[in-house]
Amino acid sequence: MNVLGIETSCDETAAAVVATTGDPRKPWVVRSNVIASQVDIHREWGGIVPEIASRQHVRDICGVVDRALADAGCPWSTIDAIAVTQGPGLVGSLLVGVSFAKAAAATLGRPAIPVHHLAGHIESIFLDHGAIPLPAVVLVVSGGHTSLYVVATPGDYRLIGRTRDDAAGEAYDKVARLLGLGYPGGPVIDRASKDGNEFGVDLPRPRFTHPDRNPPPADFSGMALPPSLQHLADFSFSGLKTAVVRLLQRRGVPVATGLAMPSDAGPLSRTDVADVCATFQRVVVETLIERTFETARWLGAASVGISGGVSANSRLRRDAIARGQSQGIPVFVPALSLSTDNAAMIAAAGLRKLELGRAASLSFNAQATLAIDA
Ligand code: KG4
Ligand code: ZN
Repeated sequence: MNVLGIETSCDETAAAVVATTGDPRKPWVVRSNVIASQVDIHREWGGIVPEIASRQHVRDICGVVDRALADAGCPWSTIDAIAVTQGPGLVGSLLVGVSFAKAAAATLGRPAIPVHHLAGHIESIFLDHGAIPLPAVVLVVSGGHTSLYVVATPGDYRLIGRTRDDAAGEAYDKVARLLGLGYPGGPVIDRASKDGNEFGVDLPRPRFTHPDRNPPPADFSGMALPPSLQHLADFSFSGLKTAVVRLLQRRGVPVATGLAMPSDAGPLSRTDVADVCATFQRVVVETLIERTFETARWLGAASVGISGGVSANSRLRRDAIARGQSQGIPVFVPALSLSTDNAAMIAAAGLRKLELGRAASLSFNAQATLAIDA
């Protein structure tokens, strides 16, 4: 079976073909994975401009899909279903993919499968690694989301923690902008951190836990956190961003406009910038890892997964694997090409829905906000 995936929720127009293999240990294989990134267009504005994004999707979608089919060696007649991101995301951008997918499905007489963007990020782990030990605690960490899910059985995604304010990727993007490092912030801060001192500046570790982080009752075995522990699986990154603002203001950097450009870094030397980046990155990664692995321990999870754009981060990947080894829990992170937004993960999430017999119809529409079990 060949599924065409389409992803247009944000600033990437992506199409991919994923096929079933018949091997239960590695049931899906990526046959093509094409991405037209708009990053160079939005960089000029310091972030994504929704209207420009949707217009660019319209320009790119036909060529990207044609290329995905050609790369896979799959003509339209061999496509069995079309999976598309329904939401969450920018509604104008989502509409382009959804309209294209529904039109193509109607023309072919094949099903169109609406997919939740974060289900795609979760399934990117299964797409790359096959059947991982369950139950798994999965951290989805991207520009729009920082959420913890429990996957007890394939396709069952239960949200157990989320950011209460900024997503981790959003914090990366905002801090990079404050430092005049450009957009998107994750990759530049990741690179700049390599030359910095991770204790070079003083930044607080976000926490809103009780002083005594008591372990759960010994008999706790459910796949949900008891109310007394729920807040320990949540995240918060806006305070950290504010701490960076205060730090820069103390050093005399003009951050009020939030539009500092590289030449505006003012009193900050390259070393100062690298130290801020390295410290910021250490704090973000420590926070993500601590909460994810502690939650996995409380729930007795059999594995940990990490996906979404920020899972491309070199330190997060390295530290997560080290923590998994010390805690005795296997860790699964998708390949870099499947970490940031792509359509192969959407095709995989579509295949999962097909496997579970979740029927599709042509009556769905793009939704800017959407619950994962919808
Ligand atoms: O999953 P994604 O491509 O799009 C969303 O669904 O949001 O994630 C994009 C986010 C951006 O905030 C970007 O700065 C971040 O992922 N990102 C990184 C890295 N590469 C991308 N963050 C930290 N380190 C990286 N190497
Ligand atoms: Zn994403």
